[in-house]
Amino acid sequence: MNVLLIGSGGREHALAWKLRQSPLLGKLHVIPGSAALENLAERPAIAQDDFKKILAYCADYKIELVVVGPEAPLAAGISDFLTAKGVKVFGPSQKGAMLEASKQFAKEFMDRNSIPTASFSVLYDASFAREKIKENKKYPVVVKADGLAAGKGVRICADEGEALEAVADFMERRIFGAAGSKVVLEEFLTGTEASVMALVDGETFLMLPVSRDHKRLRDGGAGPNTGGMGAVCPAEIAASDLEFIRREILQRFVDGVKRERIPFCGVIFAGLMLTPDGPKALEFNCRFGDPETQSVMPLIKSDLLALLRACAVGELAGKELDISGQTCVSVILAAGGYPESPEKGREITGLYKVPAGTLVFHSGTEIKDDGYITAGGRVLSVTAAADTLAEARQKAYDAVSKINFEGMQYRKDIGL
Ligand code: AMP
Ligand code: GLY
Repeated sequence: MNVLLIGSGGREHALAWKLRQSPLLGKLHVIPGSAALENLAERPAIAQDDFKKILAYCADYKIELVVVGPEAPLAAGISDFLTAKGVKVFGPSQKGAMLEASKQFAKEFMDRNSIPTASFSVLYDASFAREKIKENKKYPVVVKADGLAAGKGVRICADEGEALEAVADFMERRIFGAAGSKVVLEEFLTGTEASVMALVDGETFLMLPVSRDHKRLRDGGAGPNTGGMGAVCPAEIAASDLEFIRREILQRFVDGVKRERIPFCGVIFAGLMLTPDGPKALEFNCRFGDPETQSVMPLIKSDLLALLRACAVGELAGKELDISGQTCVSVILAAGGYPESPEKGREITGLYKVPAGTLVFHSGTEIKDDGYITAGGRVLSVTAAADTLAEARQKAYDAVSKINFEGMQYRKDIGL
C-alpha cells in the first residue's frame, strides 16, 4: 500500500518510523516532511495546503491512504476534499476538526453529549465579557480564545485584572487575529493532566496507551507554556480512571460524532485533567499529539498501517492493540529563545554518538553542508524505551548528553 503522510514535525517522523515497519507498506511519501525523512520517504516539493496538487500526486503515485499529521490542513478541509475524489484519508472532516479549531464548538459538543468538562460560558463581545468577568467571584479562572492560537490562546487568570487583560488582548488587540473574536470563560480545574488518544473509524474507537506531556518550558512546571517539552508513556493512571475515560469520554465522543453526523475517521486526542471528581476533558484535538506520539509509537507492537487503514474503510471494530510492557520517555531539545523567538541555523553536533536503540526524531532541523542545523522551536525528540521508567530516562538522557547546539534547552524531569 502506498501511503502519503502530511506534516513535517517530530510527530510525523515517529509516524513515518512506525509505518515503515509495516509489511503492508509499499512506498512512503511525505509532504512536506523534513530533511531527516529523506532516506525514509519520497518528498515531492508540494505545499501541504495545495490540495489540488496533492490530489494529482495521489493519482500519479497510486496513493492508497493519506495520513494527516497537523490540524491546519484538517481544519482547512483536506479530508473532505480528498475523500470526495475517492482518496482514502486518515484524518477527520473539516467539521470534525472544528472540535479542535473552535473551543466553543468543542465545549458545546461536550455539553450536548454529557462529556465531563469544566463549566463554561461563551462570550461574544468584549463589553459582555467584561460584565461576565466582573460578576465572577471564583479565581483563578481560565480565559480561552475560541480559535487556533498555536497553544497560546489559554490564560489562567489569578484575578479580575488578569482576566480583563486577557479579554483585551484576545478580543480588542486581537493578538491571535480572528481566533480571539469569541472567548470561552472556564472554571479552573485542579489535578494531574494526561493525554489520551484513540483511533476512530466513525463508529468505534481503539484507545492508545495514555501518555503525559510536559507543557512548561522549565523543570517542575516553571516558565512559559510551550508546544510540549517531552512526554512519557504510559502515564500513571488508576484503572478506574481508565475505565471512566473509555466509557464517559471516548464512547460518548464517538456516539456524539455519529449522532451529529460529523464524519470522523482519525485520532481523537483528549487533553484531560484527572480531578478529585474524576477525569474531565480540557480540550479535544483531532490529530496525534506532539510530543505524545513520539512516546507512544515505540510501545505499539501492532501494525499501525493496518489499523489506520481499518479506520479509513470503517473496519476498526474488533481490532485489538498489542502493546509492549515497556515505558517510553521522549525529551524535546528546543532552540535557544524558544518559545518566543527560537534561534535557527545553529549547527547540531553529536548525533552520530547517540547509542543504537535510542530514537532521535527530528522536530525542526535542516541539512546544511554535511550536517544538521536547527530550523524550528522544537528541534529534536530524543526517545528511549526500557523495562522501567528509570532505565528509559537514563537511556534518553544519556543520548541527550551526546547532542549539542548553541542555546539548547531541555527539561531534566521528563517522566518524573
Ligand atoms: P488547552 O489548550 O485547552 O488544553 O489548555 C492548555 C493548558 O491550559 C492545559 O494543558 C492546562 O494545563 C491548562 N488549562 C486549560 N483549561 C484549564 C482548566 N479549565 N483548568 C485548569 N487548567 C486548564
Ligand atoms: N502536546 C500537545 C499537543 O499536541 O497539542
